[in-house]
Amino acid sequence: MRHFDFKDGEMFAEDVALSEIAAKVGTPCYVYSSATLERHFNVFATSFKGTKALIAYSVKANSNIGVLATLAKLGAGADVVSGGELARALTAGIPASKIVFSGVGKTENEMRAALTAGIRVFNLESLPELYVLNDVAKELSVKAPIAFRVNPDVTAGGHEKISTGKKENKFGIAWSHAERAYKEAASLSNIEIVGVDVHIGSQIDELAPFEAAISKVKDLITRLRAQGHSIRSFDIGGGLGIPYGDNSKVPPPPADYGAMVKRLTQDMDVEMIFEPGRMIAGNAGILLTKVLYVKEGEDRKFLIIDAAMNDLIRPALYEAYHEIEAVKAPGSAYDEQSYDVVGPICESGDTFTKSRELPETKAGELLVMHSAGAYGASQSSQYNTRPLIPEVLVKGEAFEVIRERPTIEEILKTERIPSWISS
Ligand code: LLP
Repeated sequence: MRHFDFKDGEMFAEDVALSEIAAKVGTPCYVYSSATLERHFNVFATSFKGTKALIAYSVKANSNIGVLATLAKLGAGADVVSGGELARALTAGIPASKIVFSGVGKTENEMRAALTAGIRVFNLESLPELYVLNDVAKELSVKAPIAFRVNPDVTAGGHEKISTGKKENKFGIAWSHAERAYKEAASLSNIEIVGVDVHIGSQIDELAPFEAAISKVKDLITRLRAQGHSIRSFDIGGGLGIPYGDNSKVPPPPADYGAMVKRLTQDMDVEMIFEPGRMIAGNAGILLTKVLYVKEGEDRKFLIIDAAMNDLIRPALYEAYHEIEAVKAPGSAYDEQSYDVVGPICESGDTFTKSRELPETKAGELLVMHSAGAYGASQSSQYNTRPLIPEVLVKGEAFEVIRERPTIEEILKTERIPSWISS
């Protein structure tokens, strides 16, 4: 069931015509489907039914509080990596007891906020970080619940920039240091060991790397328990890939992933924690954009659209493929043309795709870039002083703006001309 599909010759998000959203909100904008968010979360949750599992949605994928609140209602927890994400999760109604705090460089202030809120667990990545957390917890007279994120040295992930589980990556405690780290943690007065954490990468399109990582960590947990540590939770991170509509490998369905995890962990007596991001939000959102100009080049045609790399940076940063369709359904007989689809930013990198075959397209027409719900809005910027674009959440026949487009005045208000020039 696709919630972005054609009805009466034009594309809808659930029961709302995208042309209506474009007319009311303006383009470019992100449009999310509540039904898809809900379905993805429920599919994931169902594959772990009957087990003790916490699904801590990875907030970085799409951190809008409207999206978080939608998932909170279904029972989602949150995986956060900054004080800002922590505040978002709490504001959206995700209980602190379902929040895990990941990331390689937490600050004292972030630790203080998370301890005060009473989060479930800190996923720590180094001994220096452990010592700082112990000091902050002491100052607050509490015990900080911790897991170490261990680096299993497993290759995984769709692109070198999003692979995290190899020993040369900056993430996690080196495999050979893990047991020493737990021994050290056990000796500290304000630390409570609760689990082990691992995350190997993103857009992973096969089960084998997950299996390899889980098996390695399983052995580690056995050893840690033998050394007297109480390991109650096993967090295997996120990373399950999604189909982007190109010809690359299609990732395994969440049910297969769930069955594999259950098979490997059912005899472990641990509570599993998952941190899926892309799998929940990726195909729940599109980028809606308008063609500004069709420009004839020497040997190619350019579609210059009103969205740019500051709105969706994935193609520029990871050579990512996003399927593009016109909002108006092409009739049965149409001309295909080869286009480079580009944004207005002053960089050649502001190119969404090259030589893409699309139905003949004219200026003023609306296009959709699919699979933009994860790492789209959350990675956007105001480069070229292009205001952040609106985010719209659809539910059935209803839609609401869940992030407004700031005005240029609002952007300029945060900046100052220094006094030695202005006075
Ligand atoms: N947990 C941790 C500790 C992570 O670092 C990440 C993603 C996740 C969970 C969620 O992974 P997911 O289920 O979404 O694959 N911006 C890139 C992806 C970066 C992923 C970073 N970490 C992209 O647009 O492809």
